[in-house]
Amino acid sequence: MLRKKHFSIVLCTLAAALLPSAPLLAQHEFDYEEDDYGPVQIGGNENAFGFSQEAAMAIMQAVGTINRYPRAQAETLVNKLAASFKVTPDHIIVTPGSGPILVMAAMAYAEPGKNVVTVEPGYLQLTSAFRRFGGEVKAVPLNDKLEHDLAAIEKAIDANTVIVYICNPNNPTGTVVDPAALKAFIERVPENVLVFVDEAYLELAEGGLEKHTMAPLVAAGKKNVLVCRTFSKAYGMAGLRVGYAAAAPAIINKLRPYSQGGPSTLGYVGAAAALDDLASMQANIAEYQRVRKMVTDALDALQIKYAEPHGSFVFMHTGIDIREFQRLMEAENIFVGRPFPPMLDWARVSIGTEQEMNLFLGALRKILASKGRLASR
Ligand SMILES: Cc1ncc(COP(=O)(O)O)c(C=O)c1O
Repeated sequence: MLRKKHFSIVLCTLAAALLPSAPLLAQHEFDYEEDDYGPVQIGGNENAFGFSQEAAMAIMQAVGTINRYPRAQAETLVNKLAASFKVTPDHIIVTPGSGPILVMAAMAYAEPGKNVVTVEPGYLQLTSAFRRFGGEVKAVPLNDKLEHDLAAIEKAIDANTVIVYICNPNNPTGTVVDPAALKAFIERVPENVLVFVDEAYLELAEGGLEKHTMAPLVAAGKKNVLVCRTFSKAYGMAGLRVGYAAAAPAIINKLRPYSQGGPSTLGYVGAAAALDDLASMQANIAEYQRVRKMVTDALDALQIKYAEPHGSFVFMHTGIDIREFQRLMEAENIFVGRPFPPMLDWARVSIGTEQEMNLFLGALRKILASKGRLASR
């Protein structure tokens, strides 16, 4: 796996081979010590562990082709994704990050009187766009473990529902839905309602992607399910901007007119190389799960409640208003997630490197102590 401190070496070597004038620039831009901590950014669910070295190599090698539009590179990635989903390429759409797919679904399905059913707190990109484009949002509460309450979601579906949005693992809580229960739920949802399953973080779930994914429903020909994923999280390539979805061709064709274009050549090429680099992905997942466990062990010791985390973050009950908690953390140069109403004394903290999480845990102990809350724990 490529870590930042190795990046300048790889870049300089490749740049020297490919672009004779570039090495100094690359060195200047990327060389720094990993222990030189600036701000600890653990608010945006970005991957702190690095990304595939194979992807970096492929990207550097593709630089010489960027005078052309990425037709062949797009086809290669779509074919690879189709093979991994065991579907034909017309079941796949690729966009610059998966966010655009969420917005395209809102644009394609929202109209006055129609609604999307979702949970609260949940990820808002699809639902807020749905509202912006004239539809309504029906948000049902999570259950007491901060998981999707499938019975309540099913009850909320009415004759005007056009999408059910299931974010699995849920952002911000990180909980997953039991796969058998979710599959049975999807089978019961009326065929004219799209079940949009956002698997942005699912590679990081305990038990692994294969255990939890709803992709087999797409492969089996289910007409009203869409599975959305991204290279931004477990693959560690948020800045590359590549996301994708798999669904029946009729759904893909309903979304496609709202596309604002695909990724760049470098995005397609990097993503395709990353898909082939299983070792890097597995190392990334292992590191996430190890540091996540380190954090939850520390929270157990502090007797801080948290939702069972399956994504790249932990949602924890600090008991401090999140806006104040953010300010106190910022004073320590640590940046945690935004407020997630209605759970305003909880914090969503992304998993960073082990050192970053130790800095966070140290600051957390200090803040709790300053509130007189540490002693009672
Ligand atoms: C649940 C979920 N879905 C989708 C996205 C969109 O990410 P991207 O556009 O980088 O793929 C995010 C980003 O944080 C997310 O949390």
